[in-house]
Order: sequence, then structure tokens, then C-alpha cells
Amino acid sequence: MGEEIKKGLMGVTVDETAVSKVMPEINSLTYRGYAAQDLCAECKFEEVAYLILNGELPNKKQLKKFEKQENKERKISKILVDAIKKIPKKAHPMDVARTVVSIMGLEDKETRDNSPEANMRKVMRIFAKTPVALAAFYRSRKGKKIIPPKSNLSFSENFFHMCFGKVPNKDIVKAFDVSLILYAEHSFNVSTFTARTITSSLSDIHGAITGAIASLKGPLHGGANEEVMHMMNKIKKPENALKWINNALDNKDVVMGFGHRVYKSGDSRVPTMREYFGKVAKIKKDKKFEKIYDIVEKVMIERKDIHPNVDYPTGPTYHLMGFDTDFFTPIFVISRITGWSAHIIEQHAANKLIRPLAAYNGSKHRQVTSLSKR
Ligand code: CMC
Repeated sequence: MGEEIKKGLMGVTVDETAVSKVMPEINSLTYRGYAAQDLCAECKFEEVAYLILNGELPNKKQLKKFEKQENKERKISKILVDAIKKIPKKAHPMDVARTVVSIMGLEDKETRDNSPEANMRKVMRIFAKTPVALAAFYRSRKGKKIIPPKSNLSFSENFFHMCFGKVPNKDIVKAFDVSLILYAEHSFNVSTFTARTITSSLSDIHGAITGAIASLKGPLHGGANEEVMHMMNKIKKPENALKWINNALDNKDVVMGFGHRVYKSGDSRVPTMREYFGKVAKIKKDKKFEKIYDIVEKVMIERKDIHPNVDYPTGPTYHLMGFDTDFFTPIFVISRITGWSAHIIEQHAANKLIRPLAAYNGSKHRQVTSLSKR
């Protein structure tokens, strides 16, 4: 009789958090008690980043100070720029994200200081510099000139500016901002749990975020937004969608952008992101992906009762905004840095080494024979 094994820690509560919760009574993801979709309606991303990190929404003065700090930290070092220029052009941008945060850890004078004050200062640096470093790679791998950040632009505007050299119209920026708000935090998902596990050995925030990025890359987690786009590109046109999805389900394929460990009857972030996907499609005068989206979703619900998760609408939205597909998950990173950081700070404040047990199913004890006798 072995111990009971909870594969994937399914249904296991491992610690407490005050950062976020999917509240069943309102059927919604909440950050610090606020429904994510309400935050999308009322706030810009910087306000939500402040909320996640500090526990309360900022007033005007606090927001100004936060934005000023973020602005001040945007510049990246020459060492980092040189490294980005030398990275193989075919490297996956998620591996670049992991590497640039790791390099920032080498450069940061406070890397080993895990006090709450030092952690918050480091968070601001990682939060401000990571998008700058990623946009630099976005340009350098295409042989284009790196565009430095602009201090009079918001977090989202600046990312467009650094990637494309221009800021799109305000509705596109708002849709991007909304996607960042929806991606910012989601309790003990695999990347956040990875960050907390790394932190639990009293390691540092750069290491924890580097590990979290590696975890987010996987297609069962953040990598799903890229996979959704690959799927839509395979489907090509709405006329093919019905046959494609029915075949996929007949073959028992996993359809990316659907299903969730926590939500079993629909991800509360989807309606908001779906609305903004529609707005972007309208502005771009391209309804093809929306049509494919609706057909695949309908069949998934009818045949499997499996609903889309937030990666399903973000994938085609980022595509319509003009981003390369392999940059979709790095966009998730620049937002989720806020959630990871809040959890890392929380873990440091009430730490217990994370060290589960395993049920051993290997060989019985045996004698070692010397190499000459094997
Ligand atoms: N396509 C087809 N079947 C699915 C899917 C899907 N996307 N998701 C779940 N199922 C089926 C699964 O095959 C299983 O069926 P059965 O009981 O017959 O074996 C059943 O539903 C339960 O699924 P599960 O994989 O055991 O559930 P889980 O909680 O371990 O997995 C998941 C959750 C997100 C890994 C899974 O739904 C999945 O692989 N989805 C596709 C990848 C994806 O979109 N990931 C993004 C997750 S949310 C946002 C984020 O983190 O970025």
C-alpha cells in the first residue's frame, strides 16, 4: 500500500496567498479582491501592476511616482545590448527573455539582498527593463536598428514604439493594455509555483523569474497563445475550420487555447479579451480569424464541453497587431512579471522550504559491482 499520489498536485492546497483568487461567487479571477474585467474597464496596466505589487490601487500621486520609477529604470546596459545583438537570430524569444533576466541578475548590485525594500527596487528594474530588452531583440534579429525607450510613452505605447517605431491608434493600445491586465496574475499556476519554489530556498528574484519564464514557455501554459496562432494558420480559412476541428477531436488531439486546470466551465478572462479581439479585427478590417475562432469554439463546447482559455483570443489579437508569433508568450512575460514578483515577495515574507515527497517505484536495494565485473 503506497502513499496517495496527487499527480500534478491537482486539487492540493500548498500555501496561502493574498494576491489573487478565482472567486466562485462572482465566477471571476480577482486581483487583490478586484475582478480582472472591472480593472480592464477602469484602469490602465500601470495601475494594475501597482495594485498587484502593493496590494491597493494607486491614487493619482502614487501612480505618477510609480510611472516615474518605471520610466527611470527603462534604460538597459551596454553589456545587455551587446549580448542581445550577439544572440543567434533564430533563438526563441522566450529563451531570450530567460537569458536577459538572468543577465540583469548578474549586473544588479542588489541581487543577493532579499529584503522587501531591495526586492521592490529589483522588481521595478526587471519590470521596466525586460520589455526594452525583448523589443531590442525583436529589432536586432531582423537586422533593424534598436529603438530606445521613450519616457513620455506609457508602458504599452512604449512597447509598440520600441518594436515597430510607431504607436498605433489608442484602441489598439487599449486592447494590448487589456491583454496585459488579464495576463498579469493567476495564483499558483505552474510558472508562479516555479518562482515560489525557487524562492523557497531563499534564492533571489532574478533567479526565480528566470525559472518562471522557462516554465511559462511550455505549450500547456503561456506557450499556448503561440500554438493557437499556429493552429489558426494551419486552418487557413474559415471554410476549413469545421473539418479541421472535427478531425482534431476524432484524433484525440489536444486543442491549444482550450481547457484549464481551475476553470471548468469557462475562463472569466475570455469574454473581455474576445471583445477586444473583435475591436482589433474591426480596426484591421480582417475578420478571418474571428470566424475561425467562433467555429472552433462552438465545436469544442458542443463536442467536448471544453471552453477557451485566455490564450485563445490573445493569440490572434497579437497577430492582428502585427507581432511575430514567437513574441506572443514574451508579451505574457512582460505582464506576468508583476504577478510573479508579488508571489516572490509573499514567499520571502513567510517562507517555508518547498520540498514534497515522492513515492519511490525504482529498484530494490542492490549491491554495487565494480566496473570490471559489469
Ligand atoms: N483539447 C482537447 N481535450 C482537452 C483539452 C484540450 N485543450 N483540455 C483538456 N482536454 C481533455 C483531456 O484530454 C482530458 O480528457 P480525458 O479525461 O478523456 O483524458 C480532460 O479534458 C481533462 O483534461 P486534463 O488535461 O486532464 O486537465 P488538466 O487540468 O490537467 O489540464 C490544461 C489543463 C490547460 C493543461 C489542458 O486543458 C490543456 O492541455 N489545454 C491546452 C493547452 C492550453 O491551452 N494551455 C493554456 C492554459 S490557460 C492559460 C495559461 O496558463 O497560459
